[in-house]
Amino acid sequence: MQVLAFNGSPRKEWNTATLLKKALEGAESQASETELIHLYDLDYKGCHSCYSCKLKGGKSFGKCAVIDGLTPVLGKVIEADALIIGFPIYMGAVAGMAQSFLERLVYPLWDSENMGTLLKKRIPTGLICTMGAPVSRMKEMGLDGRVRTVEMMTGMAFGAVESIIVTDTYQYDDYSKYAHQPFVNPEEKAERHRTVFPQECEKAFEMGARLAASASEA
Ligand SMILES: Cc1cc2nc3c(=O)[nH]c(=O)nc-3n(C[C@H](O)[C@H](O)[C@H](O)COP(=O)(O)O)c2cc1C
Repeated sequence: MQVLAFNGSPRKEWNTATLLKKALEGAESQASETELIHLYDLDYKGCHSCYSCKLKGGKSFGKCAVIDGLTPVLGKVIEADALIIGFPIYMGAVAGMAQSFLERLVYPLWDSENMGTLLKKRIPTGLICTMGAPVSRMKEMGLDGRVRTVEMMTGMAFGAVESIIVTDTYQYDDYSKYAHQPFVNPEEKAERHRTVFPQECEKAFEMGARLAASASEA
C-alpha cells in the first residue's frame, strides 16, 4: 500500500511538515509504504484554464494536459492508495503552491456532467491545514470555511476525505527577533507549541493510520 503526502509549505521542518511526517508514521504503523513530496521542490504552475481535461473525447479528458514538474506527481497520485495533503493558510486562503496543486489534481477528476468523479477507485484523503490564527480569529475570518471548501471539492474527486485544522501555530524560532501583531503573546505561543502541538501531532498520526487502514479495506 502506498500513501503519498504533499507539503504545501515552503518550510520542510515546521508545523505542516511535522504534522505530515507524523501522519505518515501513522500510515507506516499500518504497513504502508510512504513518501513525502515537498511541493516547493517542484517547478509548476496552477491551472492554465485550457479545459483539455473537460474536452469530450479529447486525449486529456479527465487528466491535466499541462506538462511541467507536477506531471509525474499527478501520475503517482492516481496509483496511490491514500493521500495526505498539508497546507498553511496564507493571506486568508490556501497557500498558493497548494492551491495550484489542488487545481491541477482535483479539477480534472470531476465528472462535471454527473456531479461525481471520473476516478475508477476511491482514494481516502486527509487534509492538514495549519494557521497562525487562534480558533476565535479563524472563525471570525471564516478560515475554517476555506478548509471545508477544499474538503468538499477533494472529497468529490477521491470519494472520502477527512481533515485536521491546526490553529495558533508557532511561527518563528525567536519571537523577539520578528515583527508580529500586538495581540500575539510569544510566551503563550511557546507554551501552546510545547503542550498542544504534540496532541495535534498525535491526531495526525491517528489520521494517517486510519487512512491507511481504510485504504487497505477498499
Ligand atoms: C505569507 C504568509 C501569510 C500568512 N497569512 C496567514 C493568515 O492569513 N492567517 C493565519 O492564520 N496565518 C497566516 N500565516 C501563518 C501561517 O499560516 C502559519 O504560520 C502556518 O502554520 C505556517 O506553516 P509552516 O509552519 O508549516 O510553514 C501566514 C504566513 C505567511 C508566511
